[in-house]
Amino acid sequence: MTIMEMFLGCMLTKRKDMVGKMTEQELHSLLEEMTLEEKVNQMQQLIGAFLTDEGVVTGPMQEMGLTEERAALAGSVLGTHGAAKLKKMQREFMEKHPHRIPLLFMLDVINGFRTIFPIPLGQGASFEPELSERCAAVAAKESAVSGVHVTFAPMVDLVRDARWGRVMESTGEDPYMNSLFSAAMVKGFQGEDIKEPYRVAACVKHFGGYGAPTAGRDYNTVELSEHTLREFYLPSYKAGIDAGAAMVMTAFNTLGGIPCSGNKWLMRDVLRGEMEFDGVLISDWAAIEEMIYHGYCADRKEAALRAAEAGVDIDMMTGIYSEHLCGLVREGKIPEKLVDEAAARILDLKNRLGLFENPYKDADEKAEAEIILCKEHRELAREAARKSFVLLKNEDALPLKKEGKTAYIGPYVDNRHMMGAWSIIGESKDVTTLQEAVGEYDGSGQAVFCAGSPMVGDDVKLEGFAGSEAQETPVQDAGRMLEEAVGMAKSADTVVMAIGEHYLQSGEASSQANIQVPEVQMELFRKICEVNENVVVVLFSGRPLDIREISEKAKAVLHVWMPGTEGARAIVDVLYGDYNPTGKLPMSFPYCVGQVPVHYNEYATGRPYMPGKNKDRFRSKYLDIPNAPLYPFGYGLSYTSFSVSPVMLDKECMTREENIQAEVKVKNTGARRGTETVQFYIHDVAASVVRPVKELKGFCKVTLEPGEEQTVRFTIDDSKLRFLTENGRQESEAGEFEAFVGTDSATVNCAKFQLV
Ligand code: BGC
Repeated sequence: MTIMEMFLGCMLTKRKDMVGKMTEQELHSLLEEMTLEEKVNQMQQLIGAFLTDEGVVTGPMQEMGLTEERAALAGSVLGTHGAAKLKKMQREFMEKHPHRIPLLFMLDVINGFRTIFPIPLGQGASFEPELSERCAAVAAKESAVSGVHVTFAPMVDLVRDARWGRVMESTGEDPYMNSLFSAAMVKGFQGEDIKEPYRVAACVKHFGGYGAPTAGRDYNTVELSEHTLREFYLPSYKAGIDAGAAMVMTAFNTLGGIPCSGNKWLMRDVLRGEMEFDGVLISDWAAIEEMIYHGYCADRKEAALRAAEAGVDIDMMTGIYSEHLCGLVREGKIPEKLVDEAAARILDLKNRLGLFENPYKDADEKAEAEIILCKEHRELAREAARKSFVLLKNEDALPLKKEGKTAYIGPYVDNRHMMGAWSIIGESKDVTTLQEAVGEYDGSGQAVFCAGSPMVGDDVKLEGFAGSEAQETPVQDAGRMLEEAVGMAKSADTVVMAIGEHYLQSGEASSQANIQVPEVQMELFRKICEVNENVVVVLFSGRPLDIREISEKAKAVLHVWMPGTEGARAIVDVLYGDYNPTGKLPMSFPYCVGQVPVHYNEYATGRPYMPGKNKDRFRSKYLDIPNAPLYPFGYGLSYTSFSVSPVMLDKECMTREENIQAEVKVKNTGARRGTETVQFYIHDVAASVVRPVKELKGFCKVTLEPGEEQTVRFTIDDSKLRFLTENGRQESEAGEFEAFVGTDSATVNCAKFQLV
């Protein structure tokens, strides 16, 4: 038996239950029959335009070092969809391919395909991974009927720096929560078996540590100690892999000075070795070539060598593999075995998707017309949006009174761009505006509407996104708009201000040094507050913002992220009290940008600062701002109120074989039915490696009628106490612990226990 056979044998036996029509033996034989060129080009990914008559492709193809012959052997295509188009492309491609090997079609389906759900950060605020699983399943269904086989999702990068625009694609700052969402989304996309109808393969990204670019500037260097990487950043990738993710994507950044796409330690030792990932590893867009610009590889040939050595199976977009791998093998610089392994993994994925049986999988024009954006999908989008909203402040201003006059003011009043920057298939015409949604609502009383200001002023440069879409209203009109809005606000009982970031201000390549609502809108906000004291802010953004001024002056603040296709109707549900808010922050809202990165699960330092308790000078603190964020992780209000009793433990001491029950009584102390997310945090008081001041270990959503009380229990067992110790192992250490239970991460409600 050759090494290759052993490798394939082992890989295919593991997945016997999922193998499609091709048997193991047939796959072996296919691989053996393929020429080196054919195998190498399985590792090449193209954009759709290279294979259709849609665009002029000769130029870019040449630039990529791709000939037509090589393109005709490619393994996969990205960024295209549509059942009719993809079926045609597949048919024509396979007819010409010497072994009739089908293409894999891949696409970024992030927060939905055509039915757009809230951005992932908003989904994180739901504290309901099962909801994201349902959203991912719908997105999978819509993409699958449109001919897509693989989605480049979920993005599971842990994030702490609100300046980084891609925080919107993450579910936040907590490794436990991110892991739950990572697994849930993978399950939602893939189901039990990716070959089943309406399922697509998931791709966990961006491996690894992409969420920690220095200074929040996209693509920037990542500096993480191995300890921090392992403790906080790796768990969510691992969770997605354990949930069965078929693919993983590399990250653009360097880690320990080595670009991820050429980082053998990260890819071979950690990903393949420790995490036992045996699926397909794809580079991020042009990331193999970018190793040249990082200053890690002298030229494209060296980049091909390094990426192949690191075990990157697919080159997204650069043509580097196609151009150089055959030569590198023939020159003896890399063993053909590396190419065989990569090609085998890619063929295996095609087989698992059932493409050798049916290369079109679920692509179906009729189903596209029936399923995409259907009523059921829209309803889920509305449910997800409602559950993603976080009520940050409410001085009795919400829900809105049905009588009286309400002025809706702000650039988000009559705006359909609320799907987030990654909704590439979603169409703004499918989105209901807030004005339309209020109009539809029976009982919204007397309502008037105006924009009041452009979305952004001259200070925000949406470079590369320029054009009418980026700047919908000319800034010159600002004066006239402001005047109209002030007039409306004066005669209204309540003003609802729908303001926030432009949807392109967060997302890839959208880092911001200032994280405030654009100044032109803040001017509007200030003027409106001068003439009306009942201002409710509905805040749109893809990231936590510095909202001190808004939070101080407005009577209520409802944060709605980028809520998606049904976002506006969901906002109306919440504003008028048909839905009582339940969302909790998945990422701290900083006091100001100078505090960033700020996250709840920090270490104590040797000089912890406790406001009011220590007044000496030499403490870890700022002179001008508090250490605490404006709104902490896990924070979010309801239209009712809840009390949580002191934490009771059933015993104060446990061994590793035992467990302790931590119990609280949660009571609805307000006048409405409502849902509270009770959160459970652990603190290991002294350990061989310092521990975070709190770590989320569980949560539970309880829905209570007014006056109703319910007991909520969390089980503390050894698994909740383990961490990466000085021995480099996940294990617990005996000693004292604190168990916190509360309604956000700032809770001080705790009880102590010992692990003996
Ligand atoms: C992004 C990836 C994405 C890829 C393909 C890159 O720029 O970083 O997240 O999947 O493009 O569209």
